[in-house]
Amino acid sequence: MTASATLPILLVPDTRLRAKARAVGAADGDAVRDLAPRMLATMYAAPGIGLAAPQIGVTLRIFVVDLQKNEAPDPMVLVNPEITAESEAIAVREEGCLSLPGQYAEVARPARVRMRYHDLGGAKREIEAEGLLAACLQHELDHLNGVLFVDHLSALKRNMLLRKLAKDLRLKAQD
Ligand code: NI
Repeated sequence: MTASATLPILLVPDTRLRAKARAVGAADGDAVRDLAPRMLATMYAAPGIGLAAPQIGVTLRIFVVDLQKNEAPDPMVLVNPEITAESEAIAVREEGCLSLPGQYAEVARPARVRMRYHDLGGAKREIEAEGLLAACLQHELDHLNGVLFVDHLSALKRNMLLRKLAKDLRLKAQD
């Protein structure tokens, strides 16, 4: 893969992060093949372990993930993903988001999920995930529905975190 230019990541409270993305159709093939490597480059540069198209202002149902557990890249591109099964068991883990830089909170989600999606070549795929990958897949799928991890928190915690983000971004703008 050739080096791809990175794209600017939208930050909260950009309203484009709140839009529901539309399904990728046959006519989007070229756009998606162009987009995926740029999304991966943007995610790696951030650095992050997941990035959804709405975070770069594209309202298509696609996201990229790489937990970067080993030194070698292991990118996944998920097109039109949907959850087909989830565990009753809940797992709580700390989450962050490239659209809310520097902000972290514990989020409760189903511990295991099964997700169906299309890969970049259009092939149907299904994966079962647990642990960090399960949380990551659910977090990125949320982005396609205009949902952010802070929406899973109490109003009190959410508002605290959003105020801190606004303050951090103001301070950064003054640098
Ligand atoms: Ni995110």
